[in-house]
Amino acid sequence: MSDYILEVRNLIKDFPGVRALNNVNFKVKKGEIHCLVGENGAGKSTLMNVISGVYPIGSYEGDVLLHGSKTRYRSVKESEKDRLAIIHQELALSPYLSIFENIFLGHIKTKTGIIKWDKLIMDSRPYLERVGLRENPETIVSKIGVGKQQLVEIARALSKNTEVLILDEPTSSLNDDESDALLDLILDLKKEGITCIMISHKLNEIMKIADTITILRDGQSICTYDKHTDEVNEDIIIQGMVGRDMTHRYPPKTAQVEGKVMEVKDWSVYHPEYPDKKVVDRANFHVNKGEILAFCGPMGAGRTELMMSLFGKAYGSSCEGTLTIEGREQTFHTPMDAIAAGLGYVSEDRKDLGLILIQDVKTNISNSSLGKLSRWGVVDQQKEIGEAEKFKKALNIKTPNIYQTVRNLSGGNQQKVVLSRCLLAEPSIFIVDEPTRGIDVGAKYEIYTILNDLAAQGKSVIMISSELPEALGMADRFYVMNEGMIKGELKRGEATQERIMQIALKS
Ligand SMILES: Nc1ncnc2c1ncn2[C@@H]1O[C@H](COP(=O)(O)OP(=O)(O)OP(=O)(O)O)[C@@H](O)[C@H]1O
Ligand SMILES: [Mg+2]
Repeated sequence: MSDYILEVRNLIKDFPGVRALNNVNFKVKKGEIHCLVGENGAGKSTLMNVISGVYPIGSYEGDVLLHGSKTRYRSVKESEKDRLAIIHQELALSPYLSIFENIFLGHIKTKTGIIKWDKLIMDSRPYLERVGLRENPETIVSKIGVGKQQLVEIARALSKNTEVLILDEPTSSLNDDESDALLDLILDLKKEGITCIMISHKLNEIMKIADTITILRDGQSICTYDKHTDEVNEDIIIQGMVGRDMTHRYPPKTAQVEGKVMEVKDWSVYHPEYPDKKVVDRANFHVNKGEILAFCGPMGAGRTELMMSLFGKAYGSSCEGTLTIEGREQTFHTPMDAIAAGLGYVSEDRKDLGLILIQDVKTNISNSSLGKLSRWGVVDQQKEIGEAEKFKKALNIKTPNIYQTVRNLSGGNQQKVVLSRCLLAEPSIFIVDEPTRGIDVGAKYEIYTILNDLAAQGKSVIMISSELPEALGMADRFYVMNEGMIKGELKRGEATQERIMQIALKS
């Protein structure tokens, strides 16, 4: 018997105009945690989709072997029978069903054909306990946060007696505590003998849990490190991923910070469903020209709600307080009003708020700036194409052409399309909410450079980031939020991870 539970040999997978996988070899030992890394569009998700039967036999060349025998999956259902489970980059639960229904959906065992709901609820409990999810199994999935939904997906996989668990960027939408809990769970599953393959852009997580690390670049398997025997660290991984040395993770700053452009006074926001509940409580802050301003604090601190409410009441049942831009008090009723006044917003959730997945790259980039691209009410198509091409090049969006449907782009490249759209509208105050979520280290640098350039042109950037090192590497000034309140302000030089945490936690 081979040592490897799973083996991929000479895999080639083509999409129209793109060779996503070009002769990939990949071997996973039984019981290990194997991390897969690579730039956006390197082919990580595609490789996992081939292994798990999302792409059926016949749609690729090469072999996938499980326990030494070639697989011939025509669907995910077939790989599940072989005790393989995949949890996708974008979660795939049925939002309107309950937790226990999601766990057993599609594999309910009945002898008589009659489903015993009470028994299913009972049966779901041990799985929920195993993943550490303390929720009523009858709770509707859309009512629980992404972190908990992730646990439901794992509970579902365990209920199918999974032996090989594939997780595609499982922590990209989780906060630090949730991520730690998930990584601990993966380590526990390893103790029980479950083999895990995890894709992640977060190198610290990889260094924490991996036994083995494989790097993909441009659809090719570059190398595999055994973390217990080979010399490997974050820098070595980055170099393997981007194919060059990256000595700096943040570009140098050149912008001059000048006077105030925006001022917010006593801004409060009320919950959209519970109008008595304050989500943001009397926030006071200002933004300077040429400045990158970071809003730090734990997830749920109210940062997104504050910014979205300022952006034309995109959040909240009602808001109080004043917003002044360039000395003029503003009342926005819709996000379009905010855009017209020079604000831009890149949302944190690209699937829900950002993109029209069935449309192409070009349309997604241009659709907030049609006024600018039109003459006498007609869109100048050459101009529209020109702009889309410009952003494809500037942000290095990996796609065969600008007519590709956005759904077919890798996760990180979709994020770059969202950024392009906002940049095309040329906002003077650019609000970016988790701008580098799911983005690889090389492309992060490109995005940081763009944000710095905006500041150097005298524009302002407000950045919400849950990655403190990123905020510290980029921002000139920091506001720390928690529990809906701005708890303190720090300048570059004063701010450290510890200071920010201290301020966030002070009562
Ligand atoms: N269904 C599809 N149709 C056409 N092209 C596709 C499709 N799925 C993926 N691709 C292309 O294949 C390449 C690899 O994509 P994949 O999603 O595997 O990347 P990834 O390594 O997971 O990246 P990320 O880190 O951004 O998630 C990309 O160039 C992508 O645009
Ligand atoms: Mg991916």
